[in-house]
Amino acid sequence: MDFKKDFPMLNNDIIYFDNAATSLKPKCVIDAITDYYYNYSSNAHRGDYKLSVKASNKFEDTRRKVKEFINADSEKEIVFTSGATESLNMIVSCFFKDILKENDEVITTKSEHASVILPWFNLENEKGIKVKFVSLDENYCLDENTVISMISDKTKVIVLSHITNVIGDIRNIKAIASEAHKRGIYVVVDASQSIGHINVDVKDMGADFLAFSAHKMLGPTGVGVLYGKEEFLKKFKPFKFGGGMNISFNSPKEIEYKDLPYKLEAGTQNIDGVIGLGTAIDYINKIGIKEIERIDNELKEYLIEKLKKLDNIILYNEKAKSSLVIFNVKGVFSQDTALYLDKYNIAIRSGSHCAKKLEDELGISNTCRISLYFYNTKEEIDRLIDALNNKNILEESIGV
Ligand SMILES: Cc1ncc(COP(=O)(O)O)c(C=O)c1O
Repeated sequence: MDFKKDFPMLNNDIIYFDNAATSLKPKCVIDAITDYYYNYSSNAHRGDYKLSVKASNKFEDTRRKVKEFINADSEKEIVFTSGATESLNMIVSCFFKDILKENDEVITTKSEHASVILPWFNLENEKGIKVKFVSLDENYCLDENTVISMISDKTKVIVLSHITNVIGDIRNIKAIASEAHKRGIYVVVDASQSIGHINVDVKDMGADFLAFSAHKMLGPTGVGVLYGKEEFLKKFKPFKFGGGMNISFNSPKEIEYKDLPYKLEAGTQNIDGVIGLGTAIDYINKIGIKEIERIDNELKEYLIEKLKKLDNIILYNEKAKSSLVIFNVKGVFSQDTALYLDKYNIAIRSGSHCAKKLEDELGISNTCRISLYFYNTKEEIDRLIDALNNKNILEESIGV
């Protein structure tokens, strides 16, 4: 299928291989946002006139779509945030900060994104909890049995990405959550890299909390989702106070908050962003998540096969199953490779990709990352391979 016509960005002469940083947006998403501003621009949940009612309905339609997309039990479990980072921080600040005690342990890995690890490091500094890292296997992937074997009486939370943003391994959250729940341990999942790529089913995987950003799944920037089981979200202390989240406030001792999810959504929300997310979900559903996964896999296999034929490439994550590939060109600093490819209008990411603890396991801090999505093509991969099949990358990247 030719998806190119759906993505206005692809009319530019660009090969976009940085989908793990942010995805491109289909025209229908851009149109939905424009339609809001052109035709019913108004605040949501604030007005009784037709325009505001329409904005409110569209906003709540997206909540229902998200609920169905991730198979949550109720719309009360879907809180809109500014992105995965805010969602992951809220989970720690609004909930765990109050229930964890000194020396309680949180298990995670060194391949997680900064937004996964840092809120817990902060809590370690504030409350003396302990962040424990599970070792990765020889392919830098996570074996669920290693996580399970590390559980102790002190373990209170397991925090993992569903798919990591550098190695790209897909974690068996279901097996881990099933063991964790037998021992009353909470499971927090960062679905930033899996959402829109593979099926994310909070009930099937057993997530107590889950976070993601709209912009990595064809939606706009500045909007994300915090999912939490209702029984836990109910206990969240709001971290923002203002309009839309309260029923009444007569004095500091007489404040009545709204029910979920509004209690956690103070102030005017990112209305156009949420509407755009709803349209992104419609678009993904139209193609089908299984079909997206199939195309991602086919492209990834094609890319790996081609890269392996080049003798100047070091591949690091061949065994990981998702659509991310990390590599270096022998003797060339990753950023120089990215600058070199940019001359051919090929956009890739270089550096540590916000997973700075991974260096301890990988042994290097800088890699090039190609992250594919279903609108990429084998022809684009061929153009990348042609560009990489050059003995003078270093010289050409730094212009000597
Ligand atoms: C695995 C992972 N988690 C969290 C985030 C944070 O997402 P955002 O910057 O949209 O809040 C990212 C972004 O790159 C990511 O890749």
